[in-house]
Amino acid sequence: AAEPAAGPPQMGFNNWNSTHCRDEFNEAMIRGIADKFVDLGLRDAGYRYVNIDDCWANWQRDKDGNLQANPERFPGGIKALADYIHARGLKFGLYSSAGLSTCEPNEKNRGFPGGLGHEKQDAALFASFGVDYLKYDNCHNENVDAKQRYQAMGDALRATARPIFYSVCEWGENKPWLWAGDRKVGASSWRTTGDITDKYSSMVDIFKKNVVLDGYASPGHWNDPDMLEVGNGGMTDVEYRSHFSLWAIMAAPLLIGTDLRKIKPDALEILLNKEVIAVDQDPLGVQGKRIREKGGIHVIVKPLKDGSRAIALFNETDVEHDVAIGAEEMGLKTSPSYLVRDLWQHSQVQGDGSIKARLPAHATAMYRISAL
Ligand code: DGJ
Repeated sequence: AAEPAAGPPQMGFNNWNSTHCRDEFNEAMIRGIADKFVDLGLRDAGYRYVNIDDCWANWQRDKDGNLQANPERFPGGIKALADYIHARGLKFGLYSSAGLSTCEPNEKNRGFPGGLGHEKQDAALFASFGVDYLKYDNCHNENVDAKQRYQAMGDALRATARPIFYSVCEWGENKPWLWAGDRKVGASSWRTTGDITDKYSSMVDIFKKNVVLDGYASPGHWNDPDMLEVGNGGMTDVEYRSHFSLWAIMAAPLLIGTDLRKIKPDALEILLNKEVIAVDQDPLGVQGKRIREKGGIHVIVKPLKDGSRAIALFNETDVEHDVAIGAEEMGLKTSPSYLVRDLWQHSQVQGDGSIKARLPAHATAMYRISAL
């Protein structure tokens, strides 16, 4: 069945960015992550989905043609894993590919079995496992029309009795923002770019591709600039704060991509910033719009349900910059009195709504401006 429409961007975890297909991706890890969701306060902060990615499956289907779990990684099977996650008040996501096989070569030097041509059987199996979320990748697609491939799985998911969140992982090649959210395909999000890596340059590159697509996002239909790298060690905390701020103001899915069993306090604090999360999850459901881009300074504005606005000022450059923006440029009425709240400093000032900030290299300042 289709997921109830018009929800906020999905929040949760996926193992890919931290493990790829290394052996550490296994049942013990995923159970440990579900425990950490509860212990670290991530569930309370809104993170819901615990999702597993490529390499969960065995290299061939069983005698009935069903996908099966890799018995070494997931000896307890997928259903038991889903049960474990559900018992903690969380939801469970699984992965497959809209192709003959998935992306990672296995021991037979092919990908693991894909969903193309098996949509009904696979969707029914996922529902029987208790799957709440499907990430559907794009490898080995035999050049079959993308909309057709993704619609076949969308139809199959809706034919089950279970609401399953449908995440299309098409990498933006066939402009999925034009079709993946329509009723026939029924996706709630679609990837807009290739894979992120744990580098500042990759994060910025993906931000620039995704930020111009704001016109295609709406409640229950989100552009997906890929999963978070926060905590993985390849960027500074300043850069990770930019990453998290930019994803939130773009109303992107917030899928944690670091091993929460080993996360450092600074990275956890970023992921738990409730004021920034609230901008991402705001019920008005608008992706922020970039209103200024000059000399590597980006200004993005996101209108919020209560009439306030979120603003992100991002200094892409390698040197410090002073940035100023007037209330009018942000679309605010000239009024003598606004509250400007700094969502990283957790402090506020009263004023005419204009902002001045000194931004270190690669930093983002983020605010919420409301009329008094
Ligand atoms: C490509 C996707 O874009 C990634 O997010 C990941 O799912 C890998 N495939 C897995 O093979």
